[in-house]
Amino acid sequence: MTENERAGAQNVLSLRGLRACFYTEHGVLPAVDGVDLDIPRGKIIGLVGESGCGKSMTARSIMGLLREPGRIAGGQILFDGRDLAQLPEKELRAVCGQQISMVFQEPMTSLNPVLRVGRQVCETLLVHDRSLPRAQARRRVIEMFAKVGIPEPEKRYDCYPHELSGGLRQRVMIAMAMVCRPQLLIADEPTTALDVTIEAQILRLMRALRDETGMSVLIITHNLGVVAEVCDEVYVMYAGKIVEHADTFELFDHPAHPYTRGLLASIPRIGQAAERLHAIPGVVPNLLHLPAGCAFCPRCAEAGEACRTRRPDLTEAAPGHTVRCLQYCAETAERRNA
Ligand SMILES: Nc1ncnc2c1ncn2[C@@H]1O[C@H](COP(=O)(O)OP(=O)(O)O)[C@@H](O)[C@H]1O
Ligand SMILES: [Mg+2]
Repeated sequence: MTENERAGAQNVLSLRGLRACFYTEHGVLPAVDGVDLDIPRGKIIGLVGESGCGKSMTARSIMGLLREPGRIAGGQILFDGRDLAQLPEKELRAVCGQQISMVFQEPMTSLNPVLRVGRQVCETLLVHDRSLPRAQARRRVIEMFAKVGIPEPEKRYDCYPHELSGGLRQRVMIAMAMVCRPQLLIADEPTTALDVTIEAQILRLMRALRDETGMSVLIITHNLGVVAEVCDEVYVMYAGKIVEHADTFELFDHPAHPYTRGLLASIPRIGQAAERLHAIPGVVPNLLHLPAGCAFCPRCAEAGEACRTRRPDLTEAAPGHTVRCLQYCAETAERRNA
């Protein structure tokens, strides 16, 4: 068994050194900069980071949906023994949509405003299964609507997108993504536009669908609260790189990277005044002009001299827990040797 086959037996999808860049007139912008990420079968994986860290670019790379001037610049996207990064457009389209599907952040822009929602989901199903009789396809869509918690699914089938609430539209999008029974569902900020009650419902729904179908899910979010709710494992992304990876309990109990700790401190808690919310100072750096050392260094209260000049590697903090931080690694080494 090769290394890749071994990864494939356990994982539905593996990214290996994925690199995706924007080729702009000001230079090459590495939006995804050497990302390794595994999505085990039947697990819900969170990809977390502030806006502009490269999360959507990672998802779009997997789906082959990069827009010019963005392109995959290197690495592998291993799915079912194949490298999607090398697949011809036509074969890629067959995989994405059927075996991998994606829910986008803004359902209104992904739904056609002049078509009834049931019909849109039905068409998706028929594109991937041309032999399916229309009546049967309709029945499957209504079943899926019921499954994703759309009340009175037969009636809603004939609604136009604008006749539904934001929460219901997002459920329609999830139904559309689920109706072909994908092995992997990628949800890019699926609950960002929704209020917290609806958000909780949608997240529970994803977990229930995973439990029922055994599919894997990649949830992309800037909100660690979402991660705590549903994810088995978490990848934290900063400036195009994974800076920490662990299972959810480990990450919340022993966050190692100062960036992760900053994100944890910014989770809103009930009863906490908004101004007490700890926000990480500064902003995500311009990826065209990354600092010479650690990309987080300019915002990091714990940065030392070496952080300004050396780029940290991803190293093991504990079994199954990796972190990209010079300070943390120096500390753990000391503690372990003590
Ligand atoms: N069309 C574009 N041209 C140049 N840079 C872009 C373009 N779209 C996005 N970017 C840059 O790519 C980086 C990653 O973006 P994205 O993956 O959308 O981040 P996230 O989803 O984490 O918010 C950002 O720094 C952003 O500025
Ligand atoms: Mg995004």
